[in-house]
Amino acid sequence: MKILFSAKNLDQSPKDYLRVTLTEKSKGYKKFVRVGTGKDSHEILEFGAGKAEEMNLRKFVILCRAIVQSAKQEKYKKISLQFDTSFDLFKNLKDMAPEELSKVAAENFEMANFEFNTFKTKPKEGWSLVEEILIFGKFSKTVEASSNKGQQIGIGVNACRELCNTPSSDMTPLKLAAEAKRAGKGVPISVSVLTASQMQKLGMGAVLGVGKGSSAAPVFIVMEYKGSKDAPIVLAGKGVTFDSGGINLKPDGGHEMHMDMSGGAAVIHSIALAAKLKLKKHVVGLVPAVENMPGAGAYRIHDILKSLSGKTIEIMHTDAEGRVILADALTYAKRFKPSVVVDIATLTGAAMVALGPYASGLFTRDEKLAEILLELGERSGDYLWRLPLWDEYEPAVKGTVGDVVNAVGGTAGRYGGATNGAMFLWQFAKELDCPWAHIDIAPRMTSAPGDDLAKGSAGAPVRLLVSFIENWKP
Ligand code: BES
Ligand code: MN
Ligand code: ZN
Repeated sequence: MKILFSAKNLDQSPKDYLRVTLTEKSKGYKKFVRVGTGKDSHEILEFGAGKAEEMNLRKFVILCRAIVQSAKQEKYKKISLQFDTSFDLFKNLKDMAPEELSKVAAENFEMANFEFNTFKTKPKEGWSLVEEILIFGKFSKTVEASSNKGQQIGIGVNACRELCNTPSSDMTPLKLAAEAKRAGKGVPISVSVLTASQMQKLGMGAVLGVGKGSSAAPVFIVMEYKGSKDAPIVLAGKGVTFDSGGINLKPDGGHEMHMDMSGGAAVIHSIALAAKLKLKKHVVGLVPAVENMPGAGAYRIHDILKSLSGKTIEIMHTDAEGRVILADALTYAKRFKPSVVVDIATLTGAAMVALGPYASGLFTRDEKLAEILLELGERSGDYLWRLPLWDEYEPAVKGTVGDVVNAVGGTAGRYGGATNGAMFLWQFAKELDCPWAHIDIAPRMTSAPGDDLAKGSAGAPVRLLVSFIENWKP
């Protein structure tokens, strides 16, 4: 999609473009009108943006997406609009820089224009996607530059969604590693992939243990972008390419669990974006990639896995596999002497029970890091809500036979499952000499009602991670 700027006025828009005009009518209002006669005739879409007093950044995000969705539904390929911040409609957004707004607009135009068509037969008339958005108004070069940046981020988010949506037979651990290499092509990113036998030598018994039940071999993906000489930001993403639950087979066989590598995909494309945008930051991405299957070699309940840290993990539930593989990733992070570690995972159904579909869960013991992530979450559109990680929850993850248990039993297991998952991770993260946060993106794995995004992956939290990379001071 092209996003172009013009210093002219909307009345001077080319005739074959759908001209979008905004009104204070409520969100969801739209009216297509054809005006003029003969060769002067053109189509106008009157679009409800809601009351000016009620406008805010969240509504602006949805407005940008809704415009693109309406054009797609009516099969318009080109749209024009006048979108400068001097509009009364956007007076509430006056304290935001026009650069920030144009970045957000471009990100969300791109995100709304994404459809997962890879496995569909192309219709004769082609896909109904928008090819060009022409924005009229007086804008500085910096506004155009940040629109360009936003567009790149939107494209990166969509690349992440593409990986997440891909069915598991086409997205094995090895294929995810190939995608990491592909994302690192043409930019200065090094990608290395540890095989099962290399992991064996290192002692990564946690990743290997979970991977045993599948005929698809596990891998451990390491990406590095060195845009500065500082101690790196380490991002670790859960890369479960299919989660059947293992021997504790999920009752529905794993509905949507081909997307259980969403944390890993987000890490891959956030680092690719950091490099594309030439951010002056040092970032390492770690993605343990496995398929959680109940094959003949599968790990069992009460098995003990020896993790890379040396700590033993008592398996109480084979469906609590994400935390197990991330344990090794958190220990592996130590060798990079990071300034901060953030892990991202579709870790628990309990996070969805707690939060519903609009916020990811944030867990950290570092107040400053919490503050930064919450604020950037709000600004980026990848919203976070903090949940507790207090000492009170810690005894529940201690093991009977092993050092730690991967799932909590009894009453403590029925409740607070997202915190239990985070508390397990903390047993490994506490060995790091830097701040650490865990983001449970299970709630944001798929798009939700009102998001105005295609069904399937929502691409969370790529926008947040890119802005975190940009803003973190090592
Ligand atoms: N991948 C799932 C969590 C999940 C569920 C993510 C639905 C997105 C949508 C995770 O591996 C899992 O199965 N967690 C269990 C943990 C339990 C066994 C302690 C869960 O949430 O039930
Ligand atoms: Mn699971
Ligand atoms: Zn899982």
